[in-house]
Amino acid sequence: MPSRPDAITLETPCDVTVLPGFEEGHVSVQDEAAQLSAVLLGPVLAPRPGAHVLDACCAPGGKTAHLLEQFDINLTAIDSDNQRLARVEDTLSRLGVEAVLEHADATERDWWSGTPFDAILLDAPCSGTGVIRRHPDIKKLRRKDDIRPLAKLQRQLLDNLWPMLREGGTLLYATCSVLPEENGEQIEAFLARTPDAHITTPNDVAWGINSGAGRQLFPAQNSHDGFFLCQTRKAICLGAS
Ligand SMILES: C[S@@+](CC[C@H](N)C(=O)[O-])C[C@H]1O[C@@H](n2cnc3c(N)ncnc32)[C@H](O)[C@@H]1O
Repeated sequence: MPSRPDAITLETPCDVTVLPGFEEGHVSVQDEAAQLSAVLLGPVLAPRPGAHVLDACCAPGGKTAHLLEQFDINLTAIDSDNQRLARVEDTLSRLGVEAVLEHADATERDWWSGTPFDAILLDAPCSGTGVIRRHPDIKKLRRKDDIRPLAKLQRQLLDNLWPMLREGGTLLYATCSVLPEENGEQIEAFLARTPDAHITTPNDVAWGINSGAGRQLFPAQNSHDGFFLCQTRKAICLGAS
């Protein structure tokens, strides 16, 4: 995958705190595949200053921070894990950027003001099978039986968040999984039951392969993690005149 123009690759891994400029908020560390979330949302958010955006499963905040650094947006970032949410707060304060942070369950609606979002990032909880090279314990601890409940949660998240998106808005679904049940198959099923969802994932890109309606990246040696991205747009309903 070509390196991002705003990123550099470290040849030697090191503690983030010794990176020049880290404490001052000049740099952040993020896997190259994960950076594609902000890249894909670029054409949607860059021309729309002040866009009302939801980061639905935000902790520990890598993508939250990247979006806020790249775009002039009003971001609401929620997560159901309070301890992980505290890490988002630390990161945003280190970078000097702001979002509305809420401890909330994205399968519920009680936290939502009712104002539709222009864009939603759903970086869903998943098996983590794309990041085993960095977290080898996943290989040992993850069970086959875990996948069905995870896929069910992802389905609930998609179905609960979709009505919160405005007509013409964009939802980006992402996982760090390499399993079709959580990725291509999950999205195919979502499209089948959501007639106003239209795929806008670009397929003329130099990364990943087509998988269902999204793009699947597999972990690459000395390079990025396994990751899945699928971008959908909500149809604009033209009322009868
Ligand atoms: C893949 S991680 C998100 C990574 C994050 N987007 C980033 O870039 O740093 C998935 C997150 O979903 C959160 N989560 C799981 N179930 C949730 C739910 N029902 N509502 C909100 N967040 C949830 C987990 O606590 C976890 O922090």
